[in-house]
Amino acid sequence: MRKQVIAGNWKMYKTQAEALAYLQGLLPQLTDTPDEREVILCVPFTDLAVMSQNLHGGLVRLGAQNVHWEVEGAFTGEVSAPMLVELSVSYVVIGHSERRQYFGETDDTVNLRMRAAQEAGLTPILCVGETKQQRDAGQTEAVILHQLKIGLDGVDQTRLVIAYEPIWAIGTGETCDSKEANRVIETIRQQLSYGDVPIQYGGSVKPGNIDEIMAQPQIDGVLVGGASLEPQSFGRIVNFQTA
Ligand code: PGA
Repeated sequence: MRKQVIAGNWKMYKTQAEALAYLQGLLPQLTDTPDEREVILCVPFTDLAVMSQNLHGGLVRLGAQNVHWEVEGAFTGEVSAPMLVELSVSYVVIGHSERRQYFGETDDTVNLRMRAAQEAGLTPILCVGETKQQRDAGQTEAVILHQLKIGLDGVDQTRLVIAYEPIWAIGTGETCDSKEANRVIETIRQQLSYGDVPIQYGGSVKPGNIDEIMAQPQIDGVLVGGASLEPQSFGRIVNFQTA
């Protein structure tokens, strides 16, 4: 059985005070959430301490949004994997398209971060996905397979989550058709040496489309940006209904 993994990615939103208020709204909604659903909140670095103090080892796991590959050193502005582990962080998003697009992230640096995360005991969430232009040019599979080949080099596939996030669907309100997402995710799975890697879909997931997305056989979870910022909306996504 593959694990179901529902992750919120807050991006650069929420102060500590806002994070605490959010938890008060979210946690009461999770009392009946099935135990086998892994629920993760990937929050800004500055919210990690207050979140870990207030999650008390409950259902929600803590995630970061990036990690450097060195344990320590003269790398101004960076945060290392042991620093995250000390704050009870379990997961870390690596290679999100916003990091690739705005902060010079490459498949090679993604791979360094993946290895360092696992080395420290973190579970990386590797993001892959194509631009609209690449999709229109028929390059979707080739782009993703290349991202996987380099990103997963030397990585232990038994301790990993992959998120398929078509870039054109992120923050646009334009969701990838769930059957098409299912098809691409099946292609991704065929490339893996370990078939039980949880593979998520990400890109404009919301309460109105979560049930349909989770009904797809290859889709094991979701990575949610905008709709994770409001506790009611994320609560509904976590408590998706299967037929
Ligand atoms: P979105 O973002 O849900 O706001 O489209 C998804 C993501 O960036 O992970």
